[in-house]
Amino acid sequence: MKAGPKSAVDDSPLPFKPRSKVESEKFEKFAHKFIKTPKGTGAGKPLKPRPWQMEIVRDILDSGARTVGLMLPRGSAKTTLSAAVGVFVMTTWGEAANVVVFAVDERQAGLAFNAARRMVELSEELSSRIQIFKDRMYMPSTDSSFQVMPASAASAEGLDYVLAIVDEAGVVNRDLFEVVQLAQGKRQRSVLVAIGTPGPNLDDQVLLSLREYAADHPEDKSLRFREFSAAGFEHHPVDCKHCWELANPALDDFLHRDALQALQPPKTREATFRRARLCQLASETEGGFLPPGVWESLNTGELIDDGTEVVIALDGSFSEDTTALLLGTVSTEPHFHTLAVWEKPKGDDGWRVPVEEVEDTIRAACKQFQVVEIIADPFRWTRTLQVLQSESLPVVEFPHSPTRLTAATGDVYSAAVAGKLTHSGEPKLAAHVAAAVVTEGDRGMRLAKASRSRQARKIDLAACLVMAHSRATWRATKKPKRRRARSFRR
Ligand SMILES: Nc1ncnc2c1ncn2[C@@H]1O[C@H](COP(=O)(O)OP(=O)(O)OP(=O)(O)O)[C@@H](O)[C@H]1O
Ligand SMILES: [Mg+2]
Repeated sequence: MKAGPKSAVDDSPLPFKPRSKVESEKFEKFAHKFIKTPKGTGAGKPLKPRPWQMEIVRDILDSGARTVGLMLPRGSAKTTLSAAVGVFVMTTWGEAANVVVFAVDERQAGLAFNAARRMVELSEELSSRIQIFKDRMYMPSTDSSFQVMPASAASAEGLDYVLAIVDEAGVVNRDLFEVVQLAQGKRQRSVLVAIGTPGPNLDDQVLLSLREYAADHPEDKSLRFREFSAAGFEHHPVDCKHCWELANPALDDFLHRDALQALQPPKTREATFRRARLCQLASETEGGFLPPGVWESLNTGELIDDGTEVVIALDGSFSEDTTALLLGTVSTEPHFHTLAVWEKPKGDDGWRVPVEEVEDTIRAACKQFQVVEIIADPFRWTRTLQVLQSESLPVVEFPHSPTRLTAATGDVYSAAVAGKLTHSGEPKLAAHVAAAVVTEGDRGMRLAKASRSRQARKIDLAACLVMAHSRATWRATKKPKRRRARSFRR
């Protein structure tokens, strides 16, 4: 008999006494005992969480993180697994264990709710204890509920939950997400799960912001992020089996290879297939500054010898919390090495760039190397440039005008792909170059950050590279024959 709002509800405790105190282990037992796979492969059979699904479950239930971000491709049981965890939490976390599900729209939220509802209906023990309504399930014995919420920020105000599931976090509205996130703190134990496949808008989406934040703040244990993706293998062909397997843990299990095969380009656009089926963020390669593998191929591992003729580029204009100095040898095929980078320590919002330390580092480098130019955008560095110039150091202004930057960026690009520059393999420089994307303007390409968010990965050393390369090669071809006493400004 189906339980319903009007039928008698069994208020005896659920016959479930797991020996383990570990939540994820309890969940595994609970799934075996009470949850049947609601549909698809294995429908009607007890839900057996796979080892990779247990990793996700541990993130949600054991890690202590308040927010858990999970990025998986389409069809990897995101909805089903989160519904199962929701049913577990609702029925085993004691009094007032409220579970809420948000999604982009009612249809999506309905999918998660329906999966949970079917799980309850398919279990005698659960259905006799839980009342099922249109968009809500209620367990009177503990005053716990499982509810689908309309996808609006207003509906999320004042929430009180122990588990919130934001399904489709790749497309969910940011305002809504933030309201759900801010509702935390009322319970000693509560967790927000943002699970999804990357959505089409790569510039602004909740899932990727969490991913970026997690990458930048590994020390922040309140956020846990896990992805199943073939990110980093964007240069592999779209039908690369290794990438398919890497990104799709459910492949050949309940995700069928022939279905994936059938969806391949040209049936879907390559960028879409890569994003949705491999969690590869297409614009990372499409807009990426250098083609994959190019920067690595230019690494000679060599430092720059003392006394070498060099230029120094100074930049920090892409992020207020980073300042970078890059050395480049004066040559038609220059060699680059990071001189110094200052970054805001995590969480220290009062931090400012230590301008005097930057100036001292430049002065020290002028003693160590034969520095022919110190290059910076005068817009942000007027004072420093004036001070250094007053000490007769060879300051050169490099105004960041679109025309100038575009030409210089194009030159670095051509030189890099033609193997006409090298570098020392310094990791920060590599990271900044990898994080840089280009925007195509009327006059050609210019560097930009992959996203405008303040947490976006830094690219200041890449900006230094553009300036340093421009001046180092110019110097090499047009070396002043005889130095006269004149200003170095041009
Ligand atoms: N061990 C398992 N865990 C979860 N789901 C399973 C398992 N075995 C089979 N399935 C089935 O796999 C399917 C997973 O589909 P589901 O809608 O949950 O995936 P999804 O990642 O949310 O998909 P989409 O990207 O379209 O939103 C369901 O039909 C589910 O019943
Ligand atoms: Mg889903």
